[in-house]
Amino acid sequence: MLKIEVLNGPNLNMLGIREPGVYGKETLAAIEEQMREAAKEYGVEVSFFQTNHEGMMIDRIHSAYGHADGIIINPGAWTHYSYALRDALGAVDLPTVEVHLSNIHKREAFRHMSVVAPIAIGQIAGFGAHGYVLGLEALVRHLKRG
Ligand code: DQA
Repeated sequence: MLKIEVLNGPNLNMLGIREPGVYGKETLAAIEEQMREAAKEYGVEVSFFQTNHEGMMIDRIHSAYGHADGIIINPGAWTHYSYALRDALGAVDLPTVEVHLSNIHKREAFRHMSVVAPIAIGQIAGFGAHGYVLGLEALVRHLKRG
């Protein structure tokens, strides 16, 4: 069974409370539940991790090497400046989909740039919580295509 790591970076534990006009009202737990349901349909295994600590995220990415088949990541603000995160993803070289709840390209200029995008298969942004399920579909298709 394909194994997919779903990783969420800083402040995403605050979904539901945090700027609901920008990020929606759903909690991260609710998003994870939707992904579990979708994963069942696709017959893949999903595991979830959220941290506000960059080093912990990097460790988790390293530990995915040899275990996971692919990664879905919302790196939060690290998206825009963390070369360490990008290098960790590059090091394990697993197929990766970058997800953002908001459309980062129509927000502040500093959000337009993603240092993660060049190592990702693709990016999904602007579809709110549903973006994670879209990301899962895209990654599973990619992995099954071989
Ligand atoms: C975000 C967009 C980032 O710019 C922001 O720092 C986040 C969330 C999103 O999901 O839209 O924390 O990644």
